[in-house]
Amino acid sequence: MAMEIVILPDYDAVAREAARRVVALALQKPHAVLALPTGKTPLRFYNLLINYTKLGLVTFENITIFNLDEFLDLPKNHPSSYFNYMQKHLLTCVKVGRHYIPNSEAADPEEECKRYEDLIAQAGSIDLAVLGLGLNGHIGFNEPGTPFESRTHVATLTHQTREGLASEFGGLEYTPTRAITMGIKTIMNAKNIILMATGAEKAKILERALFGPITPDTPASVLQLHPSLTVLVDHQAASSISAYLKTQDISKKVSRDC
Ligand code: GLP
Repeated sequence: MAMEIVILPDYDAVAREAARRVVALALQKPHAVLALPTGKTPLRFYNLLINYTKLGLVTFENITIFNLDEFLDLPKNHPSSYFNYMQKHLLTCVKVGRHYIPNSEAADPEEECKRYEDLIAQAGSIDLAVLGLGLNGHIGFNEPGTPFESRTHVATLTHQTREGLASEFGGLEYTPTRAITMGIKTIMNAKNIILMATGAEKAKILERALFGPITPDTPASVLQLHPSLTVLVDHQAASSISAYLKTQDISKKVSRDC
């Protein structure tokens, strides 16, 4: 098991390191398959990917992207849909080979989950999954209690998750209650995983995820079992794990002040 924890000075440095690794993969493997997140954490990361392609350093023209999740019961073009997020923050500026995201308007969500999982299987394995971390430990929308064996499925969003998203939807009553998410097993099948966490509010949950018990109560804790996990964190998010880094034997750990 290899867990690499890279502690970086700030949000921008985390984004740069994540983007650097994605660019390195795209250069090494132009037909790579990526799983990518949404949320606030990866915004700068996407911005950097756009910059790198504009500079001509890399192309994503043959890359396949699967988004981790999408809301349900929401028009595809709703300003807060993840379809719209990806268009706005990456896809209108960067040409990618193929982009897949669950259909937020699916009439038969269970069928849509099956279709999405089949598409992932047809693409071969995911080379790299880039993840954010929910305040309750969710990855994608795999909320606490989700079995580690889960594949792409319909998730019921927790009250805490919906409250966190409410401002984007103009209030809790307008915030979706369901989503389609890539399952934990689907994510764990990725060859490599990068987990990004930034800001003080992620410190406690990051500690639980990386050093707490491996349990569905903390979905991200499953990542402790992944053979190739890189955790990119800023100093604030790392504030609760520094003690572990001094005492525990982690196969590789790096602290950079670039
Ligand atoms: C969201 C998404 C996740 C994301 C996480 C953290 O609700 N479903 O994919 O990683 O919660 O979001 P943020 O980066 O805004 O903290």
